[in-house]
Amino acid sequence: MITFQHISKQFTDGTKAVQDFNLTINQGELFVLIGPSGCGKTTTLKMINRLIEPTEGQIFIEGKDIREWNIQELRWNTGYVLQQIALFPTMTTEENVSVVPEMKKWGKQKTRARVDELLDMVGLDPSLYKKRKPSELSGGQQQRVGVVRALAADPDILLMDEPFSALDPLTREQLQNDIRRLQTEIQKTIVFVTHDMDEALALGDKICLMNEGKLVQAGTAHELTRRPANAFVKEFIGDRKNEWETPVSEIMDPHSEFIASVNLLNELPLYPAPLYIFGTDRQFLGRRQGNEIVDHDISVSPDTMLQEAVHYFEKTDADALPVINEGKLLGVISYKDIVRYLKEINSPAERESV
Ligand SMILES: Nc1ncnc2c1ncn2[C@@H]1O[C@H](COP(=O)(O)OP(=O)(O)OP(=O)(O)O)[C@@H](O)[C@H]1O
Ligand SMILES: [Mg+2]
Repeated sequence: MITFQHISKQFTDGTKAVQDFNLTINQGELFVLIGPSGCGKTTTLKMINRLIEPTEGQIFIEGKDIREWNIQELRWNTGYVLQQIALFPTMTTEENVSVVPEMKKWGKQKTRARVDELLDMVGLDPSLYKKRKPSELSGGQQQRVGVVRALAADPDILLMDEPFSALDPLTREQLQNDIRRLQTEIQKTIVFVTHDMDEALALGDKICLMNEGKLVQAGTAHELTRRPANAFVKEFIGDRKNEWETPVSEIMDPHSEFIASVNLLNELPLYPAPLYIFGTDRQFLGRRQGNEIVDHDISVSPDTMLQEAVHYFEKTDADALPVINEGKLLGVISYKDIVRYLKEINSPAERESV
C-alpha cells in the first residue's frame, strides 16, 4: 500500500507542482494518474521512489515513511518505466534486463532464468531477442524490454510514466493487454501515468484525475464516468475517442435488480427475469428458472468493449447479461444501460441533469 499524506512539492523556482495531495493506493491495484500536461503526474510518481523529495507531507509504503527506507532497497522495490525508451544502447536485451538482478547479486543462473521467463511473458522469444541490441528491436519491442527490465528484480511496485505514448495504437493496445495480464498474474501494485483517458479507463482499477497540482477526483472508472465531481472531470472524460470502446465494467450495474444472492432464492418474486444468482463470495451459480438455478453460458467479462458486448445480446433473448470475472458475478449489463450511456456521452448538456 502506498499512502500520500498532505504531500506538496514546490520547486526552487517557486513552481508549485503538487499541492496537498492525499491518496491511498492499495496493494495489487493498477492505479492510473491522469491529467493535462504539467499537472504534476511525473512529479507525483517520482516522489514515490524519492527521485524527487516533497517539500511537505509524508509518503508511506507498507506503513513505513519512505524516508526510513534504505534508499537502495526502495529503488529496487519500485521498478520504473520511463516515457522515453531508456535502454543502454550498447548492451544486449539480456544485459539490459540483468542490471538490477546483478546489483542485487542474484546468481547467473537465477538471473538468466528470470530474464527468459519475463521475455516470454511479454511475447518476446528469448532465443530470438536476448542477444539483440536495442537498435535491432522495434519501438514496441524496446518498450517491452523496458517493462521487463523494471520487473526483473521482482519489485513490489511498478511505476510507469506514459510508457506507451510513443507507440502506434495497435502496439499500444497489445502492451496494454500485456500489462493487464501481467498485473493479474503477478499482482504488482502498478502506478501508471497517462494523459489519455481511453488508456486510463481501459487499464485502471482506480483512476486519479489531477489538475494544476491538485487531486480533482479519484475512484473507479465507473465512479468517474457516472458521478463526475465537477465540470473539469466531465470534460476530461468527454474527451474519448470512441464511446464504443468503453469497457463493460464502466457501465455495468453491480447492484442490479437482475442479481440476487442464492440465500434469497425462495423469497423472491418471479420477476424480474432474467435473474442471475450468486453464492458465497459472489461466485456465479447460474440463472433462475422457476425455483431452480440453471446453467447460463452467455456472459461478458468486465473488459469486453461495448461494440463486442452488443453481439452477445444478439445470441440471447435476455435484456441483461451477467458480467463475470474469474467465476464471480460482478454485475449486470443491460441493453438499456448501453443505450442510455451512448446517449449521455453524445449529448454532454443532458448529462448535467443525470
Ligand atoms: N525541476 C523542476 N523545476 C521547476 N519546475 C518543474 C521541475 N520539474 C517540473 N516542474 C514543473 O512542475 C509542474 C509539474 O510537472 P510534471 O512534470 O509533474 O507534469 P506532468 O503532469 O508529468 O506533465 P506531462 O504530462 O507534460 O508529462 C510543471 O509546471 C513543470 O513545469
Ligand atoms: Mg510527465
